Amino acid sequence: MAQDKKLAVVTGAARGIGLATARLFLAQGWQVAMVDRDRDELMQASAGLDDVLALSTDVSDPAQVDDMMVRIDAEFGRLDALVNNAGVAEFGPIEDCGFAMWRRVMATNLDGVFLCSQAAMPALKAHAGAIVNIASISGLRASTLRVAYGTSKAAVIQLTKQQAAELGEFGIRANCVCPGPVRTKLAMAVHSQEIIDAYHDAIPLARYGQEDEIAEVITFLCSDKASYVTGQVLAADGGFESTGVGLPALRR
Ligand SMILES: NC(=O)c1ccc[n+]([C@@H]2O[C@H](COP(=O)([O-])OP(=O)(O)OC[C@H]3O[C@@H](n4cnc5c(N)ncnc54)[C@H](O)[C@@H]3O)[C@@H](O)[C@H]2O)c1
Repeated sequence: MAQDKKLAVVTGAARGIGLATARLFLAQGWQVAMVDRDRDELMQASAGLDDVLALSTDVSDPAQVDDMMVRIDAEFGRLDALVNNAGVAEFGPIEDCGFAMWRRVMATNLDGVFLCSQAAMPALKAHAGAIVNIASISGLRASTLRVAYGTSKAAVIQLTKQQAAELGEFGIRANCVCPGPVRTKLAMAVHSQEIIDAYHDAIPLARYGQEDEIAEVITFLCSDKASYVTGQVLAADGGFESTGVGLPALRR
């Protein structure tokens, strides 16, 4: 792998927002370590892409994360950006959210971000790298059925601020992107038609976002263009977070 090209590690890169982000980094001249626990989908997604290392890793497993960083160090010898994008969504009422479900969601969405960031720290320090954590509008505003998902994402927002506070002295920036709804496999598994309609009503731009629109924000925050930006939470959400009551009534 080339020593003179920047390296981004993108977790959850086999599909959806992670895959769009990996592709955009490549288009911008970066190298990418594509990380995912779904080996088959990862191999399919990375086949034929240049400047890519595909790593089958479960980000919630400390030993696998350590191995992943050893491989990345050995292959690239540098790390300029870590995008903690791997995530799972399981929706259900508070009373029905069993501990196993709670732990599944926390393990990937929160433990994974903590573990990958910690393992990447030595390499990020060496290159004044950037961390971008993917949370969600569900971490900014509470809603029904999201006790585990929303709480995990709110924690990712706080974890980002902790990282920015502690790692700034090493030149490491840490920022958080909160996507609004995007039609990925994750979202479509939990968004009923009712939820889809409700989002359209509640979003000023009156539509779902696209993977590429989220990827643009992520790569911007990883780039030198954002060199004085750290500890920020950026909602790429069509305006959802900024609004209150009244939109549906105005539209009808
Ligand atoms: N799609 C949306 O509407 C939406 C909205 C807000 C936030 N997000 C967040 O964006 C991120 C990407 O979601 P997406 O919609 O592209 O989902 P997706 O399901 O299309 O992709 C997620 C990828 O992460 C991988 N993954 C899951 N758990 C993993 C683990 N433990 N280790 C390694 N890989 C793992 C999956 O195999 C999958 O390839 C997630 O963090 C999600 O919570 C998505």
